[in-house]
Amino acid sequence: MTRPGDDDIAAMFDRVAPRYDRLNRVLSLGNDLRWRERTATFARLGPGEVALDVGVGTGDLAFDLLRISDPTSRVVGVDLSERMLDLVRARASRDPLGARFEARAADALALPFAEASFDRVVAGFTIRNFSDLDRGLREMRRVLRPGGRAAVLEFSMPPSPFLRAGYRAYLHHVMPAVAAHLGGDAAAYQYLPRSVERFPRAEGLADRMRDAGFTRVEFVRLFFGTVAIHVGEVERA
Ligand SMILES: C[S@@+](CC[C@H](N)C(=O)[O-])C[C@H]1O[C@@H](n2cnc3c(N)ncnc32)[C@H](O)[C@@H]1O
Repeated sequence: MTRPGDDDIAAMFDRVAPRYDRLNRVLSLGNDLRWRERTATFARLGPGEVALDVGVGTGDLAFDLLRISDPTSRVVGVDLSERMLDLVRARASRDPLGARFEARAADALALPFAEASFDRVVAGFTIRNFSDLDRGLREMRRVLRPGGRAAVLEFSMPPSPFLRAGYRAYLHHVMPAVAAHLGGDAAAYQYLPRSVERFPRAEGLADRMRDAGFTRVEFVRLFFGTVAIHVGEVERA
């Protein structure tokens, strides 16, 4: 399979959107919410600060961040998928935190924001889908102010060959079967294992973030190394 372009990605997430949250909970064995909560702690916002959530989806990470941040802070979420944007806007209209949230249609590879517009940038399971990872990372770096920080949650391949083999079996066999059983989109759940396997390992992603201009890049592995949170900062002026 060739790497899908942005239009294919948007169409796939449009199809997945209505079942996205339920599939996430089941396929992560209930862990995905904790992973996002942990990611949000690396990006907590102070008074008046603003974060960008790249590929906001249904808003789980954005709303975790709002919940733990100063009540005068705000989050802007962007996404390519109109269906995801509909869902996150509906969520914002129900949730009292929604008054501090704004959703916009935008491509993470060409963000419609000036340099240094945000205090934090977060991304949850988004950057693996970029058709050009380095360009997406440079855009995240560009819109961060000096002293700002990015926190990126993404799937990863475990460092242990033994765990890697088990994870591959889960990704290629168990996960698509469970997703199909729950009415998931077959193409999406064939795409997902491939996208995880071709994505850089944790050390490689840290290097790509440094190449994109981030400093003090660090990562933590979660859940046997199947998931990682990377944090990078922008040098103070
Ligand atoms: C796997 S979902 C993750 C959603 C949410 N961040 C979460 O943690 O559940 C990935 C999201 O990123 C969006 N996305 C993928 N590539 C994008 C791009 N280039 N620009 C903006 N959004 C993108 C997709 O439409 C999708 O909603």
